[in-house]
Amino acid sequence: QTKYLKDYLTPAYLVDQVELDFYLSPTATQVASTLALRLNPDRNGVIEPLVLDGEHLQLVAVEVDGVSLEPADYQCDDVSLTIPAPPAQLTVHIITRIDPLNNTALEGLYQSNGIFCTQCEPEGFRKITYYPDRPDVLAPFRVRIEGEPADCPVLLSNGNLVDQGVLDDGRHFACWEDPFPKPSYLFALVAGNLVCLEDHFITLSERRVLLQIFVEERNRNDCDFAMESLKKAMKWEEQVYGLEYDLDRYMIVAVDDFNMGAMENKGLNVFNSKYVLARPETATDNDYLGIEAVIAHEYFHNWTGNRVTCRDWFQLSLKEGLTVLRDQQFSADMQSAAVKRIDDVALLRQYQFPEDAGPMAHPVRPESYVEINNFYTTTIYNKGAEVIRMLETLLGRERFVEGVRLYLKRHDGQAATCEDFVAALEQAGEVDLTRFRRWYTQAGTPEVQVVCHYDCATQTFTLDCQQSCPATPGQPDKEPFHLPLVMGLLGHDGTDLALQLASDEAPGGTSRVLELTQSRQQFSFVGVQEQPVLSLLRGFSAPVRLTMEDRPEDLAFRMAYDSDPFNRWEAGQQLSVAELLQLYRQQLEGQLSTGLSQVFVDAWGVVLTDNEADESLLARMLQLPSEQYLADQLDEVDPQRIRAVREQALRHLLSVHREKLLQCYDRYSSAGEYSLNPVAVGRRRLVHGCLSLLMLEPDELLQDRCLRHYQQAGNMTDRLAAFAALVDCRQSPLRDQVKEDFYRQWKHYPLLLDKWFSTLASGRHENTFFEIERLLLHPDFTLSNPNRARSLLGAFAQNLAVFHRQDGNGYRLLTEQIRRLDKRNPQVAARMATPLTRWKRLEPQRRALLREELVALQQENLSRDLYEIVNKSLV
Ligand code: ARG
Ligand code: ZN
Repeated sequence: QTKYLKDYLTPAYLVDQVELDFYLSPTATQVASTLALRLNPDRNGVIEPLVLDGEHLQLVAVEVDGVSLEPADYQCDDVSLTIPAPPAQLTVHIITRIDPLNNTALEGLYQSNGIFCTQCEPEGFRKITYYPDRPDVLAPFRVRIEGEPADCPVLLSNGNLVDQGVLDDGRHFACWEDPFPKPSYLFALVAGNLVCLEDHFITLSERRVLLQIFVEERNRNDCDFAMESLKKAMKWEEQVYGLEYDLDRYMIVAVDDFNMGAMENKGLNVFNSKYVLARPETATDNDYLGIEAVIAHEYFHNWTGNRVTCRDWFQLSLKEGLTVLRDQQFSADMQSAAVKRIDDVALLRQYQFPEDAGPMAHPVRPESYVEINNFYTTTIYNKGAEVIRMLETLLGRERFVEGVRLYLKRHDGQAATCEDFVAALEQAGEVDLTRFRRWYTQAGTPEVQVVCHYDCATQTFTLDCQQSCPATPGQPDKEPFHLPLVMGLLGHDGTDLALQLASDEAPGGTSRVLELTQSRQQFSFVGVQEQPVLSLLRGFSAPVRLTMEDRPEDLAFRMAYDSDPFNRWEAGQQLSVAELLQLYRQQLEGQLSTGLSQVFVDAWGVVLTDNEADESLLARMLQLPSEQYLADQLDEVDPQRIRAVREQALRHLLSVHREKLLQCYDRYSSAGEYSLNPVAVGRRRLVHGCLSLLMLEPDELLQDRCLRHYQQAGNMTDRLAAFAALVDCRQSPLRDQVKEDFYRQWKHYPLLLDKWFSTLASGRHENTFFEIERLLLHPDFTLSNPNRARSLLGAFAQNLAVFHRQDGNGYRLLTEQIRRLDKRNPQVAARMATPLTRWKRLEPQRRALLREELVALQQENLSRDLYEIVNKSLV
């Protein structure tokens, strides 16, 4: 059942041409496929059986070279169709029938709100027809789609529209041709009653590209931002990477039912409508930023993923890590770069670090898997992006871009490996990446310990660095990693000192990349005239856990003066973590709480009254570390205690700084035309941070203001922030009032109904659990729409103190829903099970309760997706 990278074999047959004919019907779509196949020349003429992948298909007919096969001439089972001894070159014609309407797994061809659409990556194409469904088989596709004009006025597939017309029986058809050979996972078909928004883009070489976004009529007015984002992404990729779009048409379709965020099918992206639809009244700042990033991500895949694809799914990060890095670079250029970096790191720490420390830990290039859908992970995506970011740091932007271009040029039209990518960068950068390659083979988050020493007599500052990496499943011992540590030294006035390593001739620059490649290394700076403060791992230059014995005063100093904004934020976070963990331990040991230290409370107040820095950065600095991040710092977690302690700290800050919070809230909460410029976004973040803190202890006056904030909001960002704050006002009658009001106003807009569910499920009060139980019975709740399922269940599982109730009812509730979901949609069920797998580091009582649920689940008849997750988490 397990697949291994080491078992990779080249495909036995290659496909020279694919012709697909679709006769659309909701419950009985017929697919006729004609494949021109030939034995892979690397077999030297030795005939092998032709094995085509296929699942959940009704086989109607098979022909080889025009002769129809009898059942005795082939073998057909649940997962494949085999022709035992075919000619070395052959044309296979296959007819299958499928049922898109009842395809609840949303893989292959399915219907969403009456719209036919496909999701083929990674292995969905085999649910459409029999085919060598693997990414290293590339072929040009020609697709004919026939359907009812009333239900499906729009008929789309990849590439260029080459023919269309109406038939005698009133049905109509369209023919599409994609000249670029592609693997089956990039195939797409969309058909339905859609409207089209059009624009165009003139490329670097002055070709005109038609841009089209297809949505349901009701969403016609919500596509402008997505279109603008697409044009920005196209321009940016030309400017930064010198890469141009290659077809004459680029299409995006938004559907409501989608397992993931979006899909980069050649020339025809299919999107979760969450990442397309936006106008100020319905989308928050974060929604807008998400759209900008995902539109860019899918667009960038056209080069990193489509023109050069992956040899096998073990190489998934080759396209995903690289494309995430590129979308991060793009967003950094569009918005506040510092805050983008902070948000990316916070995400990495919140999700990827725990994954690396848990039962599903795997290298960026995994060695084995049971269900590949389970490997679309934060490790593949986000750690994969970090690994490539380190290459950029080691090579510098210019050489890095050169390396990426070399890789694309060398492998254009091919299915490549992670090794191909590293080799190209190694060549372009003229660097030795031998050790660096370990990032692709070793799982786990490296730990770096640094001890500094300043010698006044010799004016020498020394860093003594050690690295190690904890064991992960199947990997007890690790070799040292190649780590770029970006650093600087701060003088007493907060300015950066010029740096001179003992090996340098003269001081030069205020920022250095130290390369740690061994388990222990020392770096000495000379000519350091005063005791400096070290600023290490600037910009989070390597995805590691860093420990230094920073004194609180030094952290507070860096929080105020570090010239690297990421490290300013980071110093504040470290200070907060230390404070919060101290409160946690005091509580645990029944000691009298000392409360927050004066150093911390003051430093926090300084940030609050800073009138100069980027407001987004300030807003981030004022946020205490998330409960998840705090939990990740402990060996035995009591999630309810974490919440209690964090709330105690917030109340302390509120009690000291209430007046300043009110002033800050007043200063920036002026309404105006909605704009997504970084300053406007930053102000809203700051205002909402103040509001949510103030609303921890709201008098009537404040409740009233919050209600007005909610009612008079000119955009959803403001409205939702006030809504969330009011939802947590348990005692106030306003709570039910706004709950009802929001529902009434937006019950017909699915994406906002999702927010209604998730905001209610994120409530901090204990009663939230009962509210969630009631919401499960709400007529608008359904497990069949992934966004809706995630909005309630995902938010619930993220709500640690509620999910981890002491009586285990939280675990029971989630497990029960996952059980039901697994019958419909295994992929989403398996993903939703992630929080259940984190039982090992809970305190003993909860650990036992959660484990019991998993053991019970393991006995049942589960999908392969869910089975892998449950099983691995119990090993
Ligand atoms: N390649 C897509 C993206 O990252 C994700 C598709 C994942 N789909 C899936 N069924 N696992 O843009
Ligand atoms: Zn992607």
